Amino acid sequence: PQPLRVALLGPGVVGKKAAQLLIDEAAELGARVGRPLELAAVGSRRASVEGIDQALLTSDLDALVRRNDIDLVVELIGGIEPARSLILAAIEHGKSVVTANKALLARHGAELFAAADAHGVDVYYEAAVGGAIPIIRPLRESLVADSVTAVMGIVNGTTNYILDQMHTHGVTYAEALADAQKLGFAEADPTADVEGHDAAAKAAILASLAFHTRVTFDDVACEGISSITAGDIAAAKEMGCVIKLLARCAKADDGSVAVGVHPTMVPLEHPLASVSGAFNAVFVELEWADKLMFMGPGAGGRPTASAVVGDVVTAARNKVRGVAGPGETSYNEPNICDPGRV
Ligand code: HSE
Repeated sequence: PQPLRVALLGPGVVGKKAAQLLIDEAAELGARVGRPLELAAVGSRRASVEGIDQALLTSDLDALVRRNDIDLVVELIGGIEPARSLILAAIEHGKSVVTANKALLARHGAELFAAADAHGVDVYYEAAVGGAIPIIRPLRESLVADSVTAVMGIVNGTTNYILDQMHTHGVTYAEALADAQKLGFAEADPTADVEGHDAAAKAAILASLAFHTRVTFDDVACEGISSITAGDIAAAKEMGCVIKLLARCAKADDGSVAVGVHPTMVPLEHPLASVSGAFNAVFVELEWADKLMFMGPGAGGRPTASAVVGDVVTAARNKVRGVAGPGETSYNEPNICDPGRV
């Protein structure tokens, strides 16, 4: 049978690993899809990319997402533009899109899902929140019959790594941040990590799924960790606590939703206190299922590539069966975010 052909945009830390997984496991992945799966092109503005076969590289991303021989597009460029325009063009040309782009989804998710719906395709984004941890699909599909009352978690690996290093090894904030960048957890501009913007984008995505509403980045009250000092860490220790950057989403009785990201004192006996390194953890409280916790590597090339390529396989299976994915699960319930309440 004809192979399903994948174009991957943005061979960075995650993109290179996703390309490697698609190539190294092509036979196995094809078997799981039921049709051969082929990485057909890698789009990058760079002339050459270490580890990527030159024959796959193309710098004309606009043409790539429109090509008739491409079935699925994986967007790992990050940021708003050109990612938004490229995704919209891919959708308009009948291609489902896999993306890890939390910043974009938190700001323009409604536009992307509406376009996908109009063209009978879908946007898959398991890797946008929590790296390797399955959390999008559970909220979007498995738990969709239940009613979420609260979501709370550690959703940024870089800041968790920095706080953990400061707390456990006494390293300075600057040293820990440099390590996180070297290890490939941090965003290209780590301001998004340390000021809480990355976590705020993820909190908006989780809250939208959990509460069937549309929460955007601007709705999220946000405070980062850049002003946390060694003194703050020592004071937390003395109180039997650890400082964590927590994202919280909660629904009040009046139906309003409050979403925020703040450095928080977490008592050592709390399960979130032991989430170390670049791990993430998300607690979800539901009316029927009760309490669930999802935990695992929240950043880094290989773990995030696992989630990206998992979405590629899912999108490919759906394409083979001629069905779109689950679509957006938001129902336009009133979105009354009250940051003051978080
Ligand atoms: N910079 C992000 C983090 C990458 O540190 O969690 C994963 O989204």
